[in-house]
Amino acid sequence: MWKGHEKFERHSLILVLGIILMVSVGGLVEISPLFYLESTIEKVDGVRPYTPLEQAGRDIYVREGCYLCHSQMIRPLRDEVERYGHYSLAAESMYDHPFQWGSKRTGPDLARVGGKYSDSWHHDHLRDPRSVVPESNMPPFKFLAETDLDYRTIEARLATLKRVGVPYTKEQIANAAKDLETQVDPFAGEKSGLKKRYGKANQRDFDGNPAKISELDALVAYLQVLGTMVDFRSYKAEDPENLR
Ligand code: HEC
Repeated sequence: MWKGHEKFERHSLILVLGIILMVSVGGLVEISPLFYLESTIEKVDGVRPYTPLEQAGRDIYVREGCYLCHSQMIRPLRDEVERYGHYSLAAESMYDHPFQWGSKRTGPDLARVGGKYSDSWHHDHLRDPRSVVPESNMPPFKFLAETDLDYRTIEARLATLKRVGVPYTKEQIANAAKDLETQVDPFAGEKSGLKKRYGKANQRDFDGNPAKISELDALVAYLQVLGTMVDFRSYKAEDPENLR
């Protein structure tokens, strides 16, 4: 046994200084390599920032506290993967500010709910969950279909996200309101530029009411894109091409 150890055990001040020294060295060894990595998130094909409409829907999701009952992270455990699909990748929530991983599942995980149901199912379910799932204890969100989406500040919203690292381009920010409007218009066509700016995106009237852009339009657009950006038929976790 090292003799000097007794000194540390007998004098609390020396012990405290010793602990601080040890913790700092340990901390540096763990933390400093992270500063030299370009990214700690593997790059995955298909992951893109949310379109303005999806982002507006995401803001409603956060506003209504959906995360209090729903997680958005499928853990790499067999039962979860069998129930919900491929486990979540870090890249899939890299543009989420704040992330919606959650820690509470009163309802099921929603990380891959995109494409699982039709828009009209979501419409019915959000208006009155018990109309489609009789045993549900999810609260109704009937007002979403009735409330006009307020997107007056959508450009500023995207610009703010850009400041925290979401790579929105100048063009995407400048056209945010236009892109939001064209995403709910199935007749807008290719000319609108939405696909050029974002690539793959669902473009249709999400709430079944072409007369208005409602909060439901935005929320359903968001739910329908969740977990659908990565094509898992071609994704291989160990493929070095996917690692930066
Ligand atoms: C009080 C808890 C609670 C809140 C808050 C809540 N939900 Fe749910 N949700 C549930 C439960 C329980 C279920 C399972 C029964 C059902 O399908 O209704 C569910 C199911 C769902 C499903 C179907 C998932 C699937 O894979 O079958 C979706 C989509 C959903 N909720 C979306 C939302 C959205 C969007 C919000 C916020 C506007 C929200 N929920 C808020 C409890 C909640």
